Amino acid sequence: MRKWLIAGNWKMNLTANSARALIADLRKDLDRDAAVLARDRDIMIAPPAVIIPAAAQALAGSSIALGAQNMHFEDKGAFTGEISAPMLSQFGVSHVILGHSERRHIFGEGDDLINRKVLSALKNRLSPILCVGETEQERDRGNTLSVVLGQLERGLAAVNDQSERVTVAYEPVWAIGTGRNATPEQAQEVHGAIREALRDLFGHQAADTLRILYGGSVTPENVDSLVSKPDIDGALVGGASLKAESFARIVRARRA
Ligand code: PGA
Repeated sequence: MRKWLIAGNWKMNLTANSARALIADLRKDLDRDAAVLARDRDIMIAPPAVIIPAAAQALAGSSIALGAQNMHFEDKGAFTGEISAPMLSQFGVSHVILGHSERRHIFGEGDDLINRKVLSALKNRLSPILCVGETEQERDRGNTLSVVLGQLERGLAAVNDQSERVTVAYEPVWAIGTGRNATPEQAQEVHGAIREALRDLFGHQAADTLRILYGGSVTPENVDSLVSKPDIDGALVGGASLKAESFARIVRARRA
């Protein structure tokens, strides 16, 4: 069985102080059940880069993993304002979200750039969470699968023997931050197609172990029905990850 991953993407929110408080509240809620939860799910939070050191301290001794929201593909060099995989690793970061739709649409990141980041993450022993997803217009035109699978194949180009460390997050752009989540059926249709494409890319065994998360307006109210679908292996949570109570409830997702 695949272990779920429930991941929080804090985006550009909180400060070191409010992050410490949120982590303390989360731990108060989740630490007592850590062993039970860890049987079938992993938990991760991705704070803004500058808060990672404070978050790492606040997470010491917890089983909640630490992620980053982005990184550059080079290890070092003249790239003003950027942060590299080795810098993240130093603080115990294990995961990095790459190709989020906000990076694609607001900051103009394309598949080739995202692919270089994926390869750099793997080279540096980080686990990339590759985000893919169609816009509302692309869905209305019937292009959902071609858009999503295109992003998937280009984003994972040249990933070979390290594919087991990859996570995919399907995040329909029209569902992000809108309160309008994909229905479990809509999500499962795309997740199933992603699983098929992963089979072609990496073989049956790898495709059966890779996690495919759903993201886009996940809440305590809708998470159970989403993770009840066979190819939905957890959630990437934005807004609802900023409150300890709602994120802890999402972490406790159960099959409906
Ligand atoms: P949301 O964001 O949960 O606020 O819709 C999800 C994401 O962007 O990862």
